[in-house]
Amino acid sequence: MGNDAFRFSMSLGAASAATQIEGGSLGHSWNGWYEKGRIHDGSDPARADDHYARWREDVALMKDMGLQDYRLGVEWARIQPAEGQVDGAALRHYRRLLLALREAGIRPVLTLHHFTNPGWFEAKGGFANKENIPLFLRFVRVVVRALGDLVSEYITINEPNVYATFGYLYGDWPPGHKSLAETLRVISNMAACHVLAYKTIHRMRSSMSKTSCGLPGETRVSFAHHMRVFAPEDPVNPLHRITARVTRWAFQGAVAQAFLFGKFMAPLQKPFYIKPGLYCDFHAVNYYTRSTISRPGDGVRAGAPVNDLGWEIYPEGIAQCAADMFILAPMPIYITENGTCDNEDTFRARYIYDHLKVLAESNLPIKRYYHWCFCDNFEWLEGESARFGLVHIDYDTQKRTVKKSGDFYKKIIEAGGVTQAIYDEFVAGQAYHY
Ligand code: BGC
Repeated sequence: MGNDAFRFSMSLGAASAATQIEGGSLGHSWNGWYEKGRIHDGSDPARADDHYARWREDVALMKDMGLQDYRLGVEWARIQPAEGQVDGAALRHYRRLLLALREAGIRPVLTLHHFTNPGWFEAKGGFANKENIPLFLRFVRVVVRALGDLVSEYITINEPNVYATFGYLYGDWPPGHKSLAETLRVISNMAACHVLAYKTIHRMRSSMSKTSCGLPGETRVSFAHHMRVFAPEDPVNPLHRITARVTRWAFQGAVAQAFLFGKFMAPLQKPFYIKPGLYCDFHAVNYYTRSTISRPGDGVRAGAPVNDLGWEIYPEGIAQCAADMFILAPMPIYITENGTCDNEDTFRARYIYDHLKVLAESNLPIKRYYHWCFCDNFEWLEGESARFGLVHIDYDTQKRTVKKSGDFYKKIIEAGGVTQAIYDEFVAGQAYHY
């Protein structure tokens, strides 16, 4: 092996979220946010990648790329367009998709909630209202009853800290509130939802009889934790150090305790019926960047490499965050998201290389890596203007074109690592922007 080569034992896949790829006007919270004119480039999530219609083509592309794993989401508003209603056609759609993935030899992990609520749930106060917890659990039961024989691994909730901070503290995402008290309520209620969903999924799958499709795999449930490194801007300034520590605790540490262990520590609020325990079967870590802190909020280290959204590229952080979780509970780790906004695809291969190398050289039990994301897609507030995909989408024609980084990903999956020849072809000529 050359100097730049390395091997890895984790399997490689890609991650996505229903709202970001499917398209459709479903009256959900992000359809509503678009209607309020809140998407920066004016793009409409009803368009996205039209994946709901083009899923066969997309699964074929994933198979061709050699993906071993795929993290996909279901759209709650599609499955339950009104309170108490269930759309059987939507569930049949997801069954077909899961069967196609199985035929393609791609192992699915299913996300139940990824930022988007049905309009009717939002109108009742969403996760800010504890009376709504049973509504989420009813949805979980509907999904597991319909799809539980085809998928054994679940992410209950994606990035509760990001969802609550952007929607309820900064007010940039739906529902656009700015209240610390509400933010803490949302995280606490979501943690209760996770714990209860964890138990529900295990109970339901263990009592499901084998169907003709079988019940593949052991049930595994987690939540996807958005993690970053919080570093003081000036490492010897006590104020910077304390602010970094407090931010890390509030944004990450307290959230992990509640979701992993059912331990609601300050500033979260404990629901009386949740008992401490272990409520995850693996760690699901979403990692993108480091925040450099001198005061409450977010900052970028001067002179650091950045992506096209100005986020610092800090590969070492991926192992630091995974290690933080492993220390809390020694369990297998899946990197359920990692990727970058690189609109021209000029440094994505290097980004992947650097992050995978850090993971491969760590002593942590990293079992899977899901790149965010397979296709360019609707990037929330940034709409269609921020490209994270291994596959380019022409939104007008919906033509899919595998990028150079997609070819790189295919080659390293085939090789089980990065050979010197692959490095020379795809990575050597790439440099980050500063
Ligand atoms: C989210 C994704 C998002 C990605 C890039 C993650 O925090 O889960 O939905 O597209 O970051 O911003």
